Amino acid sequence: MQVLESLLDNFKTELNSIHKVADLLNLKSKYIGKQGPLADVMKNIKDATPEEKRTLGSKANELKNTIEDLVGKKMVELEVAEINQSLLTNKVDFSLTDSVLDKGLQAAGLHPVTIIQQEIEDIFISMGFEVLDGPHIEDEFHNFEALNIPATHPARDMQDTFWFADKKHLLRTHTSTIQVRGMKERKPPFRFVGPGKVFRCERTDASHEMVFHQLEGMMVGENVSVGNLIYFMKTLLAEIFKREVEVRLRPGFFPFVEPGFELDIKCLICNGKGCSVCKHVGWVELLPCGLVHPNVLKSGGIDPEKYNGFAFGLGLDRLVMMRYGIDDIRHLHSGDLRFNSQFKTF
Ligand code: PHE
Repeated sequence: MQVLESLLDNFKTELNSIHKVADLLNLKSKYIGKQGPLADVMKNIKDATPEEKRTLGSKANELKNTIEDLVGKKMVELEVAEINQSLLTNKVDFSLTDSVLDKGLQAAGLHPVTIIQQEIEDIFISMGFEVLDGPHIEDEFHNFEALNIPATHPARDMQDTFWFADKKHLLRTHTSTIQVRGMKERKPPFRFVGPGKVFRCERTDASHEMVFHQLEGMMVGENVSVGNLIYFMKTLLAEIFKREVEVRLRPGFFPFVEPGFELDIKCLICNGKGCSVCKHVGWVELLPCGLVHPNVLKSGGIDPEKYNGFAFGLGLDRLVMMRYGIDDIRHLHSGDLRFNSQFKTF
């Protein structure tokens, strides 16, 4: 009891001289830690009478709570003091911008592909879609097999693939890889989009690049129809181009959709009359899409008897070029600041 009585006074005296969080923690464990005087008292309590046990026990408890309380209060004080101190010593000068620009440095800007990608993400988010990401380096399973493209399938030749030396890994040739992971990680109904870079071993020219951008979309549920697909595409295009856009579907072949389509839009430049942009046909091919093949649903862990869905792969570079009137895709990867800074600066 004597030990306990003087304990609190001693603690308070020591507490007054503490100025650092680390010292405070040491002090706390010195008094109420496993090797501390309180623990000692508790160890020896077995030799006391039942009466003494009760008073000692409750006194010890009370003391422990008081000390914890005092430590807590001191901790807040010390933390506030440390923050104030660091605000004084680590001042950040936000007023630099103008003087940096005066020295001839350029303000940062957004790449046009980023601008379009963010706009489209926002449109899909407003229609209840999630936005997913996926790795650039993939394996055969995610890029081909799970998408109903087995090793011997001729469709593997449709996509000129950059393989790694181990012959097992590759740079993803399309964002459809995001479908596979997206399906595995959720239960229907769901809808998501997945934007990103894709890579193909192609000869470059004004309309072909080895690195370009797609935005994958997928919706799975009960009774998803081609009508749903057309609705979402028309809403998307009307938002992007800020006017009603006419669309048409042509049959298209992709092993991971059945039926598969190419979705065309009526040329926005000539309104369907025929011009150089639409190569005089009045329609511009915009995105491949279709209803998800049952084998793909299966490899995503989804029962094709119960659920179905649609998927599409929007080419972002083509959209950027149409919107800004860019005639050569290679500008997009030139890294030329004179090009990049024309779109949007902060
Ligand atoms: N992944 C296909 C491609 O890159 C596009 C696509 C996506 C087609 C979804 C249909 C459905 O060519």
